[in-house]
Amino acid sequence: MITFDSVNKYYGEYHALREITEHVARGEVLVVCGPSGSGKSTLIRTINRLEPVASGRITVGGQDIHAPGLDVNALRSHIGFVFQQFNLFPHLSVLDNCTLAPQRLRGLGRQDAEARALALLERVGLAHKARARPADLSGGQQQRVAIARALAMQPPLMLFDEPTSALDPEMVGEVLQVMRDLARDGMTMVCVTHEMGFAREVADRVWFMDHGQVLERATPEEFFARPQHPRARQFLADIRSPLGLPA
Ligand SMILES: Nc1ncnc2c1ncn2[C@@H]1O[C@H](COP(=O)(O)OP(=O)(O)OP(=O)(O)O)[C@@H](O)[C@H]1O
Ligand SMILES: [Mg+2]
Repeated sequence: MITFDSVNKYYGEYHALREITEHVARGEVLVVCGPSGSGKSTLIRTINRLEPVASGRITVGGQDIHAPGLDVNALRSHIGFVFQQFNLFPHLSVLDNCTLAPQRLRGLGRQDAEARALALLERVGLAHKARARPADLSGGQQQRVAIARALAMQPPLMLFDEPTSALDPEMVGEVLQVMRDLARDGMTMVCVTHEMGFAREVADRVWFMDHGQVLERATPEEFFARPQHPRARQFLADIRSPLGLPA
C-alpha cells in the first residue's frame, strides 16, 4: 500500500528523514513510535505530500506520489488523515462536516452523502449528535467526528498523528476504540501514537524511529518483549517509568 525508497528530507540543514526505505502492506496496522523530534510527524506527512522530500520515492497504492502531473488534491482525497487537533469546520453541523467533501469532491448527492455520513456517525457512536455544532461536543466526540469525516471519503488508507494526545485522559479510550474497530475491519492504518497499550493490542507491526531513521521494525510482541536497539530499549524504559523510578 505504501513504499518508501531512500527518502530523505531536510529542514534547512537539519536532516529530518534519513534514507527511509520501508513498506506498509495493505490491511496492515502500523504504529510508529519514538522520542519527540524523531521525525514521526514528518514521515507520516510525506505520505500525503504535506511535507515535500529532498530525494527518494514514495508510492501509495502503486502510484508515485511525486509523479509529474499528479493531482495532489486527488491524492489527499484518497488518504484519510486525523491529526492531534480535530480541525472540524466550526460553523458546520457534525453532519455537514461529514458530507461536504463527498459532495464536493466525489459528486455525491446530498441524500446519499447524508446517508453515508449517518451510517459512519452511527459507527463512531455519534448519530445522535448529527445536528450539533463541533463546539458543543467533547474533545473525544470531536475526534470521533473527525474520524467519521475522513471515512466518509472511503479512503483505502488512514493516517493518524497522535489522535489522542490532545484529549483529556477519560476520552482517550473512546477514540482508541473507534480505531480498534477500524483495524478489525481491515483498514490500512499508519498511527503515530504514544498509546503503547493500543500498539500492543492492535498493531501488526511497530516502527521505532529516532533521529530521522527507522531503527527497528518488529511485531509488538517482539518489540515490547525484546527491543533490539539500545535506543528502543531506552525509549521503552522511559515511557514505562517516566520519572526514572523502577518500573
Ligand atoms: N517546519 C519545520 N521547520 C524546521 N524544523 C522542523 C520543522 N518541523 C519539524 N522540524 C524538526 O524536525 C524534527 C522532526 O520533527 P517531527 O515533528 O517530525 O518529530 P516527531 O517525532 O513528530 O516529534 P513529536 O513526538 O514531538 O511530535 C525535529 O527536530 C523538529 O524540530
Ligand atoms: Mg509529531
